[in-house]
Amino acid sequence: MIRDLVIANRTCRRFYQDVTIERETLRELVDLARLSASGANRQPLKYIISCDPQKNALIFPCLGFAIYNGQRDPGPPEGERPSAYIIVLGDTEIAKSFGCDHGIAAQSIFLGAREKGLGGVIQGAVKRKELSEALRIPPRYQIIVVLSLGKPKEKMVLETLEPGGDFHYWRDSDVVHHVPKRPLDEIIIG
Ligand SMILES: Cc1cc2nc3c(=O)[nH]c(=O)nc-3n(C[C@H](O)[C@H](O)[C@H](O)COP(=O)(O)O)c2cc1C
Repeated sequence: MIRDLVIANRTCRRFYQDVTIERETLRELVDLARLSASGANRQPLKYIISCDPQKNALIFPCLGFAIYNGQRDPGPPEGERPSAYIIVLGDTEIAKSFGCDHGIAAQSIFLGAREKGLGGVIQGAVKRKELSEALRIPPRYQIIVVLSLGKPKEKMVLETLEPGGDFHYWRDSDVVHHVPKRPLDEIIIG
């Protein structure tokens, strides 16, 4: 079961924007992060959730999407944009660095989202100053990543990355998104 969920949990960047996500659903997803591991159990992460079109419209322009063939994807057009966002913040009054807490939180959230038929993308490419200003985020909170969520519209498939091969993901002419992964025997080195 967990293997199937992990395999299905591919990054997605095109959505059925008209499929809305309730605030309660986002709260349930953040609750999965809340119950996840945290360095020293300090739990320094805080969250801003958005499923409101007006707030979403402030967040979207601050996000960077994938790079294909050396060119940045301008991102999904109106109608295929995420229906919701979870902004992962580090509370600097609790900790000065956040270790890998946000990665664990993001994975918990996306596994939960996948189980609900949703998908999305972890975004580290964020115009942090602009986003902070747009949402008036108090300076004590550091924006770490943004999790964009929606009902997936694109098809994603895993490929095997041959030794020495290109790790970049690609889109084919049918707009199928291919994600190469290194083989198990290459990554277990001892
Ligand atoms: C820490 C982190 C930051 C990422 N930042 C971005 C980003 O800014 N924009 C984007 O389009 N994808 C981003 N991604 C998604 C990766 O490109 C994606 O995970 C990778 O292509 C592998 O695809 P998969 O998630 O389906 O395995 C990020 C992923 C991680 C883990």
